[in-house]
Amino acid sequence: MTAQITRELADGYRIPLLGLGVWQIPDGRECVNAVRWALEAGYRHIDTAQDYENEASVGRALEESGIGRDEVFITTKFQPDKDFQPDMDPAAALERSLERLRTDHVDLYLVHFPQDGPTWAWAGMERSQELGLTRSIGVSNFSVEALRLVGAQASRQPVINQVQFNPFALRSGLLEACDRLGIVLEAYSPLGTGRHLGDEVVKDVARRRARTPAQVLLRWCVQRRIPVLPKSARRERIEENARIFDFELSQAEMAMLDGLDRTGGATVAREDPFWT
Ligand code: A2P
Repeated sequence: MTAQITRELADGYRIPLLGLGVWQIPDGRECVNAVRWALEAGYRHIDTAQDYENEASVGRALEESGIGRDEVFITTKFQPDKDFQPDMDPAAALERSLERLRTDHVDLYLVHFPQDGPTWAWAGMERSQELGLTRSIGVSNFSVEALRLVGAQASRQPVINQVQFNPFALRSGLLEACDRLGIVLEAYSPLGTGRHLGDEVVKDVARRRARTPAQVLLRWCVQRRIPVLPKSARRERIEENARIFDFELSQAEMAMLDGLDRTGGATVAREDPFWT
């Protein structure tokens, strides 16, 4: 199924280009339903996090779906909150996630953001991988400089950097550095949390292609081979967001969308970091 088109990571594993992001979907039936609908629509990639507090619903939906564990790519993220717990250990935190997710491993485990500096959690991420608790390891919300600092001390390099990425936040400096380092940049908030759906350029391209603005924004990512994580809790939108592998944007349309960028070659993951 097209929703399972994958890209190879530097460690040899493959990530499906389309995934359901479940940020802000409340734990419980709403999240279970969203994940079930996504799996029924052909998604084989679900992106959650310890911070989202809905891993248990993801686990429940996977179990209810009856789909084999090896058919679905699951990501969760380590929440590096040392204020909350000074001796935080990514491997121990992942073991707790796995219980909630009802599985013995995830496919990808990310440092959610570089809280208290980008490097301290990395040894624990490597240990999580050595213990077989996760197949791949990576980071999220890391700038070029933060990637450099992690890379300098790592025995295993991050294979993913998941960041806010869409035509309005093209972050070309960060994207180029990731390409150079063999790190796959992965896109969250591909619709600008919904804000970019009403943009006139996006709507114009959508009209030309007889597609929806959401499909245009998502296609813009996958056409660059960037894994993309749209969030929706509504069945018809989850299905709509999966129909992005049966059309192509022209080079001129890609360029029109690139022209919306407001980050001007940024090497940072966010202009407004929410961590310290
Ligand atoms: P909802 O969950 O009610 O469907 P992002 O992926 O950039 O974070 O954007 C998510 C936001 O966009 C959510 O508010 C979601 O609302 C909305 N959304 C997701 N898919 C679509 C779609 N196909 N059409 C319109 N709105 C969408």
